Amino acid sequence: MDVTNPENVSFEVTDGIGVLTVARERALNALNDKTLHEILGVLDQVRIDRNVRALVLTGRGEKAFVAGADIAEMAELGPLQARRFADLGHRVCGRLERLEVPTLAAVNGFALGGGLELAMACDLVYASERARLGQPEVNLGLIPGFGGTQRLLRRVGIMRAKEMIFTGATYGAEQARDMGLVLEVVPHAQLLPFCLEKARLIASRGPVAVAQAKRAIQAGADVSLASGCELEREAFALLFGTADAAEGMRAFVEKRSPSFRGA
Ligand code: CAA
Repeated sequence: MDVTNPENVSFEVTDGIGVLTVARERALNALNDKTLHEILGVLDQVRIDRNVRALVLTGRGEKAFVAGADIAEMAELGPLQARRFADLGHRVCGRLERLEVPTLAAVNGFALGGGLELAMACDLVYASERARLGQPEVNLGLIPGFGGTQRLLRRVGIMRAKEMIFTGATYGAEQARDMGLVLEVVPHAQLLPFCLEKARLIASRGPVAVAQAKRAIQAGADVSLASGCELEREAFALLFGTADAAEGMRAFVEKRSPSFRGA
């Protein structure tokens, strides 16, 4: 699989902000095997490139963020191949969730099935007023396969997650916001500029601090309060060994803006 020259995703970095666009517009950006591998390739690049300080994920075209896993491709799979396909989707979502840098989903249209699962693996989800979100797998005789049963219940609570997954219904952007799946609904044309602005704001803060905060919050979602608080104390102390923390506190005392180096 050639991930150095991807066909189904595009990736650009401007002023420290990476924009990863799923770009299979003819299939509403549906995730086939090749596209998932290409996304993994970009995430690997982001992981090692210290110039990328935040990642925005979006979909090409006017209609879709990602309309799910590729149904035509899935229709050919037997159970073992389906297991490998699910492993691949989980790898993508897990790697996205564990990226050091903050990730923002700009949901510009349909985010269904694997598309919603991808968005839920991002730290912050913003949606255009045209977005429609849902886990419609039961309509295909399936269930979510890229982590949807687990991440959805953590986002919206167990009963709402069951309703969404049992009915396969799709929801508008404002309903999704009211359920806690989306942070803010933005006019369609403003969505990407809005997310870039938010990404730039976060990227201007101490990168090591943001990464440590992300790690503590993310890990804290799955452990006891006592274990989560211990993680926080460790991360807090660790930051006092960074040049950025010294600079941040000195800049405050000297009444000037800090200049962070990410170290
Ligand atoms: N997989 C493959 N192709 C897809 C696709 C998908 N998930 N979603 C859309 N497409 C294709 C359509 O087949 C169509 O292709 P052709 O032009 O070659 O016929 C093209 O994209 C445009 O789609 P529509 O003509 O259907 O567009 P529409 O505006 O009428 O409807 C839609 C839009 C409601 C999103 C509809 O396309 C749809 O229901 N798509 C499927 C959504 C879905 O079920 N997603 C979950 C997939 S399962 C999954 O994701 C499992 C998992 O958790 C891992």
